[in-house]
Amino acid sequence: MTSRGVIRYSEHDVDTTSPLAGGCAWIDGEYVPAAQARISVFDAGFAHSDLTYTAVSVWHGGIFRLGEHVERLVAGARKLRIESPLAAEEIEAIALRCTALSQLREAFVWIGVTRGLGPTPGDRMSPAMAPRVYAYAIPYLWVFPLEAQLDGASAVVARHVRRSGRGTVDPTVKNLQWGDLTKATLEARERGAMQPILLDSDNCLAEGAGFNVLVVKNGTIATPVRNCLPGITRRTAIEIAARRGVPVEERDVSSEELYASDEIFATTTAGGVTPIVELDGAPVGTGRPGPITTAIRDRFWQLVAEPSALVRKIDY
Ligand SMILES: Cc1ncc(COP(=O)(O)O)c(C=O)c1O
Repeated sequence: MTSRGVIRYSEHDVDTTSPLAGGCAWIDGEYVPAAQARISVFDAGFAHSDLTYTAVSVWHGGIFRLGEHVERLVAGARKLRIESPLAAEEIEAIALRCTALSQLREAFVWIGVTRGLGPTPGDRMSPAMAPRVYAYAIPYLWVFPLEAQLDGASAVVARHVRRSGRGTVDPTVKNLQWGDLTKATLEARERGAMQPILLDSDNCLAEGAGFNVLVVKNGTIATPVRNCLPGITRRTAIEIAARRGVPVEERDVSSEELYASDEIFATTTAGGVTPIVELDGAPVGTGRPGPITTAIRDRFWQLVAEPSALVRKIDY
């Protein structure tokens, strides 16, 4: 774990006499060490990816926008017609407790709601399915390497796969039907880039494999309104931009606009705000993190660490 520039990990050692130190999961009502977390192979979330989930970040001992994450989770479950067995406040309490027991000051907190288990093994749509909630807190994860936050990342536009559109798997419900994103990630790897950016079937920008994408042209930010997850980090970036007087347009962004951008950046819970400085092997703008991206990135890392209504301190 490294600190660099605006990204500073807490100086804190976990007490390893607790078996939950460093990673804690909540499975079927029990807090267990993350490495020992197990679910049934008959859970519809595993068997049919019939679930929704969210991931929340903890930075410097504070959890970021937990209420909004759980709201999106519960709304997503409702769209899938999965009745969460727990109320939003109960889910929040579990996420907070998992984090506290893990002792982690910088954590990735995953919460999922699955259609769960039916009365008979293999049931997947029985009216008697009993939905389940699972959660865990593990050390903070990075979609792009930490250094890419500061120096910029490389990406390619996926050639062989498009992001599933809203008429297929609803991308506004955070899901694990990652076939398109995984295929694009493998393509990016083969083409020597860190991550892929996917277009939709209209050749417009959709999103990346676990992140939203925003482009900057002549001082204005643009980002898609459809065929992507309404990311909470993106919302934060948009709010930061608005406060700085940078105009933001939420609309279709064509592939031409993507390639002609002055700046491109990615936003995600697992990594904040990452400048993308190389696209398909060519420099984006100057080939270095641009001024609008870096201003938003730097303010983002302050926001997650300072006291505000967006951050709930963990009671360790
Ligand atoms: C497909 C996809 N798009 C966008 C995002 C970013 O969303 P958020 O900022 O809420 O983490 C994620 C997050 O994991 C994601 O999986």
